[in-house]
Amino acid sequence: MAIRIEENQKNFYLETKNSMYQIQADSRGVLKHIWYGQRTGRDMSYLLDYHDVGFSGNTYDAGQDRTYSLDTMPLEYAAEGIGDFRSAAIAVTHENGGSALDLRYESHRVYEGKKGLPGLPSMYAGEEKVETLEIVLMDTTGEVRVTLCYSVFADLDALARSVVIENCGSAPKMLTKAHTICMDIPWGDWEWVHFHGRHTMERQVQRLPLLSGIQESSSKRGASSHQQNPTVLLCEKDCTEDAGGCFGAALMYSGCFQTQIELDQLGQARLVMGLHPDTFRWKLETGEAFYTPEAILSWSDRGFARLSHQFHRVIREHVCRGKYKLAERPVLINNWEATYFTFDEEKLYVIAEQAAKLGVDMLVMDDGWFGVRDSDSTGLGDWYVNERKLKGGLAKLVQKIKALGMSFGIWLEPEMVSEDSDLYRAHPEWVIRIPGRQPMRGRYQLVLDMSRKDVREYLYETISKLLHSADISYVKWDMNRNVCDWYSTLLPPDRQGEAPHRYVLGLYELLERLNEEFPHVLFEGCCGGGGRFDAGMLYYCPQIWCSDDTDAYARTRIQYGTSFFYPVSTVGSHVSAVPNHQTGRITPLAARAVTAMAGTFGYELDLNILTEEEKEAVKSQISRFKEYGPLIHNGLYYRLSDPMKENRGIWSFVERDGKAVLVQGILYHAEPNMVGHPVRLKGLKADCLYRIRETGEIYTGAALMHGGILLPRGWGDFMAVEYYLEAVE
Ligand code: GLA
Repeated sequence: MAIRIEENQKNFYLETKNSMYQIQADSRGVLKHIWYGQRTGRDMSYLLDYHDVGFSGNTYDAGQDRTYSLDTMPLEYAAEGIGDFRSAAIAVTHENGGSALDLRYESHRVYEGKKGLPGLPSMYAGEEKVETLEIVLMDTTGEVRVTLCYSVFADLDALARSVVIENCGSAPKMLTKAHTICMDIPWGDWEWVHFHGRHTMERQVQRLPLLSGIQESSSKRGASSHQQNPTVLLCEKDCTEDAGGCFGAALMYSGCFQTQIELDQLGQARLVMGLHPDTFRWKLETGEAFYTPEAILSWSDRGFARLSHQFHRVIREHVCRGKYKLAERPVLINNWEATYFTFDEEKLYVIAEQAAKLGVDMLVMDDGWFGVRDSDSTGLGDWYVNERKLKGGLAKLVQKIKALGMSFGIWLEPEMVSEDSDLYRAHPEWVIRIPGRQPMRGRYQLVLDMSRKDVREYLYETISKLLHSADISYVKWDMNRNVCDWYSTLLPPDRQGEAPHRYVLGLYELLERLNEEFPHVLFEGCCGGGGRFDAGMLYYCPQIWCSDDTDAYARTRIQYGTSFFYPVSTVGSHVSAVPNHQTGRITPLAARAVTAMAGTFGYELDLNILTEEEKEAVKSQISRFKEYGPLIHNGLYYRLSDPMKENRGIWSFVERDGKAVLVQGILYHAEPNMVGHPVRLKGLKADCLYRIRETGEIYTGAALMHGGILLPRGWGDFMAVEYYLEAVE
């Protein structure tokens, strides 16, 4: 049983293969978080040690017991306003203006399987055996009911968590905070790892000790953002890639979010994660329910590598959906960095023709094909073909591309509008702006109010017409600015705080509809690269353009950070031209290729500019990717170096049975009198013999894991390495 309950003590154990999550409702009905960590098979509440702490008050029903304080005990879903002064998970303003909420255990139920969430992405069980526990808490006034939902994916060492908040009173209530996760960790010396950055430099890894007070990673940008990612790791101080305890949380949400970790007066850590309260208000009418986004949790006692494998499997098999979920993705050529806005159908054809000869599967026509769009200042919203550029129309171009044996994909940025566009001229009221104020522009453009049904309907009609008009197999769904000036003309004043969340719900609804209508279309998410790379988007788009930075050196670091939670099959990655358009750096073609192979793989340059020798190299890269693709996407991914600290970025993919291994990476900066440094492999069978395809040498798994492969001495900067190893009898 994944869910075990000791009824008399109201002890709830969520048990997976290796982990245990324990919650306990005490005799007063207060729900405590007792444990999340290694499976121990016993009640861990013996570790709790309460004493009278000055200025931490006591609940009234504790009588004279000054040791019973909500401010010091570990809680499972802390509410604002009743004497727990730490970061709360939920806050409500009642009709009398007060905001206290005293949640006590009311009931629970367990069922097999897992429900979806209305309008929100969520993990699904599929073939997996999953059990769900719901614990119902009620405010002591009887007016607010909170249901905590936990689904246990026992074999995957993962949990899904979400919350339902209902107004059982007789007047409306204002929800001002509704986090998904609240979890207190009373013991241990923890560090936290978060992923920060900026446009073209996403998901840089930062590991920090917990400091007294609150540390936060969050976004108020209307997208999960380039700057912070809605994922967090908490690890023991000595945790490494291969050893030590750590757990991760990934919020399945693509808008404003908040992750806080508070180290309290007693050195206890509290994690809260969910919708960002600064951009969230939600009016709950009598009888209405609010559903928080879902979060995925996973624990590993064997360091980060194991934790990443768990998240990769969960996201690949229980978040991503549709035809492409586990299928190999087409190797594509995208014309963006080859042409920017300056192209016509002939230029595209020439690019595609060369690409087809070298083995590329798909042409993706990027920005600039629609309306009047010769720069990024006009045309967004007018999703009809610019016949000056594409003479003869879209269907004709697609036919020509298909005749080359390639499929066709197209770029869209549906949530945006240019002021110089037919759409804006017809519907200025559709943009997000506050009456009486000028809106902020971003990349010259304004944002459509996705909370409006008429906007969504227009987009649905326009996009489906477009996708029906030609044989289109792929859509790159972009979003090239962040959102502010939150205001929706259709919402009353007391509901304006709902606009940011309604925007995301509207986006999800549209994506869901289009996924249903076009199940054969591969949707790739994008937000100026990886500005909306989250488990919410991955529910609708099984791959996301990882970054607008295609420089191989910087990309290996971005992909390193991305790999902690997100599987390689979700990471959009291309080979582009040099000098690189974002950094001016020149890296060898081979380095760009191995970097792009640690993703969905494709090209983003005009291959006609390459020398004959380089074209041969591209041909070989594509055929190697087609051979290694299943191993790259289905195998276990290992980070073999820390590219933030070491002069190299090396990683590997290991077949689940340990019998085949692909090692790839880049030796960054050459130095004089360099010596070759071995890289130790991971996940091999110690007593198995492996032959290295490139050298013919044979080693035991033990030698490769403890001694390693001796890498060549670097000659020139950014030398690529690639070794394929097979077990021999
Ligand atoms: C964003 C994307 C790029 C490209 C441009 C087009 O920046 O991330 O890949 O599609 O938009 O304008």
